[in-house]
Amino acid sequence: MASEAVGQWVLMSTGRSPTNIAVIKYWGKRDEALILPVNDSISVTLDPDHLSATTTVAVSPAFSSDRMWLNGKEISLSGGRFQSCLREIRKRACDFEDEKKGIKIKKEDWEKLHVHIASYNNFPTAAGLASSAAGFACLVFTLGKLMNVKEDYGELSSIARQGSGSACRSIYGGFVKWCMGKKDDGSDSIAVQLADEAHWKDLVIIIAVVSSKQKETSSTTGMRDSVETSPLLQYRAQTVVPSRVLKMEEAIKHHDFESFAKLTCADSNQFHAVCLDTSPPIFYMNDTSHRIISLVEKWNQSEGSPQVAYTFDAGPNAVLIARNRKTAALLLQKLLYYFPPQDKDLSSYLVGDKSILSDAGL
Ligand code: DP6
Repeated sequence: MASEAVGQWVLMSTGRSPTNIAVIKYWGKRDEALILPVNDSISVTLDPDHLSATTTVAVSPAFSSDRMWLNGKEISLSGGRFQSCLREIRKRACDFEDEKKGIKIKKEDWEKLHVHIASYNNFPTAAGLASSAAGFACLVFTLGKLMNVKEDYGELSSIARQGSGSACRSIYGGFVKWCMGKKDDGSDSIAVQLADEAHWKDLVIIIAVVSSKQKETSSTTGMRDSVETSPLLQYRAQTVVPSRVLKMEEAIKHHDFESFAKLTCADSNQFHAVCLDTSPPIFYMNDTSHRIISLVEKWNQSEGSPQVAYTFDAGPNAVLIARNRKTAALLLQKLLYYFPPQDKDLSSYLVGDKSILSDAGL
């Protein structure tokens, strides 16, 4: 990037956004172009130290086109989603001046300046974990910073939404709700923070990577097929999710793990039921995913109240939410017993807080 800009100024900005895991799922669009969902959804944003995208955006009069590199490899920016995010941010760009460097950019000049974008994920791309949410949230946030955009987080979330629906929720930390909105232009389809990162510190999230293969049916294609063919999707969106969202908001507010876990598991199961109800059916989970569900269900039943919640996105990997650190250590022991890894170095399996291994006596 730098070599092209020799002798001219380059203005840069860097940002970092974590990915998020939905506990009430978004599945189905009522408008494909604007990415407007058929129901509200709720998610937990993960810790940025462990699963996040870091993006640097640069502008310079020396750049002759918009370009992007993902994990060091150049990718095409021709897709409509990138273009929507770039266009929406450029529209809102404001005057910028850096007297020391002698850089002055007028509002209308941003349209003429090309951007170079470099984005990295701090987790293996091959791990099959959703990265588009973190990626688009970070792109929009960092572009906004660079172009001196004054809009609030709600407005930024509505732009990130046009990159990937779930990305709008990664604009905030903590617990986040994406309100589906009612308007045709999508201006009220924004994310709002329900509670910040500090609200429910006891929860521990463990992601069990069941398969690192790329999924066969992307979320975008899968939900399009479900909207067109699944009668269960309509019932879910209109009848089930509205009351479930209210109950989930209450559970989060009151740290009510029992309700939180029951709602999370039920919603994951219903989302996968919709996938099965789609024609042709979509199978995101595999036998190992099903065995993990059984393990958690049996454990929760034997304890008399939920200890762990499970949720699965458009793939076989399990996201397990333990009610506290002690339960997380027990969960880790169980996972390693029933699904023994080949490698003896357990720390290589863990992304994030490795001290949990000693809690589990491992
Ligand atoms: C199962 O946000 O990846 O993870 O809007 O088409 O980019 P597009 O889809 P995407 O779908 C995420 C689906 C999900 C559930 C969720 O995150 O709410």
